Amino acid sequence: MQIDIGKLKSLAPCYIYDAAKIEAQCNALRNALAEFDILYSVKTNPFAGVLQQVRQAGFGLDAASATEVMIGLTHGFKAEDIFYSAPGKSVEDIERAIGRCRIIVDSVNELIRLARCAREQGLTDCPFGMRMHPDFGLAGAAPAPSKFGIELDDLPMVADILRDNPVLRFEGLHIHLKSQILDADQIGDYWDRCLETAERIAGRPGMRPKYLNLGSGIGVAYDAKTQKPVDLTRLAERARAVQARNRAGLDTRLIVESGRFIVSAAGGFYTPVEDIKLSRGVKYLIVRNGMNGFLRPAVAHMIAANNPEAPEAQEPFYSTRAAFEADVINDAAEREVVSIVGNLCTELDVVAEGVTVRRAELGDLVRISNAGGYAFTLSPVLFSGQGLPRQILLTRDGHFLDESGLRIDRTRAPQTSHFNEGIKRAILSDVQ
Ligand SMILES: Cc1ncc(COP(=O)(O)O)c(C=O)c1O
Repeated sequence: MQIDIGKLKSLAPCYIYDAAKIEAQCNALRNALAEFDILYSVKTNPFAGVLQQVRQAGFGLDAASATEVMIGLTHGFKAEDIFYSAPGKSVEDIERAIGRCRIIVDSVNELIRLARCAREQGLTDCPFGMRMHPDFGLAGAAPAPSKFGIELDDLPMVADILRDNPVLRFEGLHIHLKSQILDADQIGDYWDRCLETAERIAGRPGMRPKYLNLGSGIGVAYDAKTQKPVDLTRLAERARAVQARNRAGLDTRLIVESGRFIVSAAGGFYTPVEDIKLSRGVKYLIVRNGMNGFLRPAVAHMIAANNPEAPEAQEPFYSTRAAFEADVINDAAEREVVSIVGNLCTELDVVAEGVTVRRAELGDLVRISNAGGYAFTLSPVLFSGQGLPRQILLTRDGHFLDESGLRIDRTRAPQTSHFNEGIKRAILSDVQ
């Protein structure tokens, strides 16, 4: 979809999320994983228009906080389609979420809290899922210590809690080990081991899961030069195989979660060039809302500058060195090598260093790719009081929609928002 640059200039700095691209990713995942139910991970990008796209695709939600549960409800997701999984849920978190989603407890302490909360609310039946920390690592690695999930060795303790609290009803299992895996067979092997773990747990009294949430892992080829996208044909074969084994035995509902795969490439970050400087042979384009608008490119630069060897991914802050492409949006035929930096008072505010882009004029827009996931909400947008970038959904017919789903036109550009409206609405709706 061709974007109207004049209109964009009146709205930048802004994120544009392309609805058609989100839809295409949802369809690709749906086709490859026809055997599974799919949840979208809200934390990746909770923008209203994005949530609407994944709801239309028939996906449920993976919520990582009680607020994300509320965001899901606010956007029309049913409680039964929202799975709330996160470590360290407080009593308040549980009170907010109980009855409004499927709660996945992350520890025995959370299970005890949930039972107490259910009793206080006069419930007679409180279904719950459990996140397990499995006794295997990825790709044959030994299991590492983890703050996530319940250890298999703690299951006798869980059984005691269930015996003492008849209000609790075990419903399902959740396992997640790692994000950003690009090898379909590594993901398939992981699914096999998760099913094996669920089969073992199902042998215990009252522990037959109605669902097994296999977590996420499906990665994004951020850097086309060094990374290959996940082979979805192979992934589909592995999904069919694990489902066949499941149907023949445990026969539970299989679920996967996905965030970045659905939204990352669908987003672009657009920000104006506010100044151009030459310093000792380096040409700088200074843009608005650099690292405080979109943090990840600055982190990529920071990590690469300090570690020239290929550093390990540090998800969700850093995936790979050249994960973002930056370009200047104009018709210039001439190209030049520049460093694109933000306007914060720190040398670390770097968008891209030594990149070849179209020759820029003041006021031109810079576009940064792969800005659809772990972008706006992961960035220190309040730092230095520079105002927030807008977030906008680009519809299939070329319209821009704001957080409320209203069309933005050139004559009625909204004020820069000072808070994520979705989050604000969700918090307020809970308070009332
Ligand atoms: C439990 C869980 N599920 C899903 C996700 C989403 O991961 P991704 O965006 O890689 O799909 C994460 C990311 O951290 C996670 O921790």
